[in-house]
Amino acid sequence: MSQTWLAQLEQQARQRLPAPVAEYLMQGARDSISASEAPGGWSQQRLVPHVLRDVTNIDVSVSMLGRSQVPWGIAPTTLQRAVHPDGELAMARATAAAGTVMVVSSNAGTSFADIAATGVRWWLQAYLPSDRTLAAPLLARAVEAGAEAIVLTVDTPVVGTKYSSDPLVWDVIDPKMLRVNFDPGYEDAPGAEKALDLGPHDLDWLAGHTGLPVVVKGVLRPDDARRCVQAGAKAVWVSNHGGRQLDRAASTASCLPGVVDAVGGTAEVYVDGGVRCGLDVLTALALGADAVFLGRLPLYALVDGEAGVTRLHDELRAETVEAFRLSGSRSAADARGLVRAP
Ligand code: FNR
Repeated sequence: MSQTWLAQLEQQARQRLPAPVAEYLMQGARDSISASEAPGGWSQQRLVPHVLRDVTNIDVSVSMLGRSQVPWGIAPTTLQRAVHPDGELAMARATAAAGTVMVVSSNAGTSFADIAATGVRWWLQAYLPSDRTLAAPLLARAVEAGAEAIVLTVDTPVVGTKYSSDPLVWDVIDPKMLRVNFDPGYEDAPGAEKALDLGPHDLDWLAGHTGLPVVVKGVLRPDDARRCVQAGAKAVWVSNHGGRQLDRAASTASCLPGVVDAVGGTAEVYVDGGVRCGLDVLTALALGADAVFLGRLPLYALVDGEAGVTRLHDELRAETVEAFRLSGSRSAADARGLVRAP
């Protein structure tokens, strides 16, 4: 059993966080089948390394929407201020120092302006409401605060049912830790519920409304990936929402190659779900991802505030460099195709 610092983070979070918060972070929808299968999607792959290659100087960086950075970013997650009082600010400071991108949840508990003031590069994650015009103030605030892209989450027409043994987290946290970037009373406005009728035209609306590149998060199927690209998406993000939406959704590791093929280099392809170590990063790149995103791992590291997230980036970088060298990869391009065909 692995005993690296990264591998211990989940257990540490379980011990140190209030039980309802820990449960909220870790749970999946329904029977948690997709949530529990996710890490295995990576560890079950088998790599065929190159040898007799000079790996003295290697470059693990990738390009994401035109910026060079490490091959991972921070996925959008709520409740960061319930994990640590510094919440999104700690996540942002550590992520700025690591030179990578943070995707800020539309339900964040810290204002966009304060997050941006840390100097982090950030993208806004958005859900669209039934009445699209209600999203306009949130989008305007994000554009004004310097968001560089909009990530539209498309796997959440309704929130997947989760079972809970502890008191619900919503009953124990301060409501001020959530949704501070919306207008007051937003949730009670008619039409504020999540849209059940999302379509490709919404990508166009978002891009036109914000002038920003649109990334579509929550795609598992090659045909949907093609529709996203045809509708103007600059990147397709393979995700099953950490197993928190449709339980029994296929693992992202198993869906990634089909999406990469369908997109055929016409847009970037990101992936998340169960990425917990540098070998997982290498494996995702080997399966064709342009970059990975981390959901729970940085939340677990955030238990120690900014220092915890800084260490997460450092440890992941060290593990990824080791994985690159051991696989004979001098660059992310070299890592492609290292996976043995089934
Ligand atoms: C999430 N996720 C998520 N996604 C999103 O689009 N908007 C959100 O507000 C949230 N909030 C959220 C809260 C918590 C506690 C978790 C664990 C996850 C999903 C997230 O962005 C990502 O898709 C998954 O977490 C990736 O899987 P791993 O890395 O957690 O295994």
